[in-house]
Amino acid sequence: MAAPMTLIDRFGRSITYLRISITDLCNLRCVYCLPEKGIQWQARENELSADEIIRVTAALACAGVRRVRLTGGEPLIRPDIVEIVRRIADIPAIEEVSLTTNGMLLERLARPLAEAGLRRVNISLDTLDAGKFRRITRGGEIGREWRGIAAAERAGLTPIKLNTVVVNGLNADELPALARLTVENPWHVRFIELMPVGNAHAWGVGFPAREDRYLPVQEMLTRLSRFDIEPVASPTGNGPARTFRIPGALGTVGFISPLGEHFCQNCNRLRLTADGCLRPCLLMDGETNLRAALRAGEPLPQLIQQAVDAKPLGHELFLQHYPESRRMAQIGG
Ligand code: 5AD
Ligand code: SF4
Repeated sequence: MAAPMTLIDRFGRSITYLRISITDLCNLRCVYCLPEKGIQWQARENELSADEIIRVTAALACAGVRRVRLTGGEPLIRPDIVEIVRRIADIPAIEEVSLTTNGMLLERLARPLAEAGLRRVNISLDTLDAGKFRRITRGGEIGREWRGIAAAERAGLTPIKLNTVVVNGLNADELPALARLTVENPWHVRFIELMPVGNAHAWGVGFPAREDRYLPVQEMLTRLSRFDIEPVASPTGNGPARTFRIPGALGTVGFISPLGEHFCQNCNRLRLTADGCLRPCLLMDGETNLRAALRAGEPLPQLIQQAVDAKPLGHELFLQHYPESRRMAQIGG
């Protein structure tokens, strides 16, 4: 194997982080992510096998990727999830494997995943209210969520990050209560601005209308002003969140503003979709399909370079250029 190199894009950003959506399927239907009836899922034969995922990841590790995050859909519904984690963690150049999950299957899987080499998890938590949790996720059970979080802690999948997608008129009133979780728990709650990807439709009775949903980070900060939060370094060193601490708290609160101005300039990532396409930007269409080369046993480095060369300087949401080729559940957030 050639000596590890670095992957640098046209704008001098070095690509060290890979997010892999290992399935587009999900056991929930969060209102901002999927329609109630689901979507036209990927044809199952197009989904990469564990062997294929490992081959792409190894090629990228050889080119300079050091950290991997598994996403979905919901990554824990893949029957071979533990094997995938183990084999990625075994790739010598990979320093960290993490995972983003809705938590529903975590109670049983936290320990085997930790034993397979998973370092930590990000868990989606949009509300503290059981009824609202069921409504937002269309069927999720908050008790399972808490048991999943507890199991992740016991298994040492820490520091635990909790992702909250903030929707005005739905869960924005819970910002203070969610932030307060960090006082006595070493958790990192991250408030994410709602991204306008595949969710322009009406969400159903009792949900806010499209034009009323967006709450910018600046407004979130105002709603948390009573806590006198102080800026601190990110608990894991990198990523797009601006991080703060309530004085004396064990955990932190972070804010992710994909529509804000500083999101793209430090972007260090590539995404691999469940059907084997390298996607250089979450919020801009444009992908390099690796599947044919992968299945023909052809080399990948040139295609990887092509994807990196196509990485845009930034998204263009402010020009009303929205990604249309895939939904969030097919990219993995
Ligand atoms: N805007 C912001 N975040 C989203 N997620 C899913 N859809 C959206 C959206 N439209 C989040 C999930 C999860 C992560 C993978 O992405 O809640 O935390
Ligand atoms: Fe599933 Fe995550 Fe989308 Fe919710 S946000 S429907 S848990 S993929």
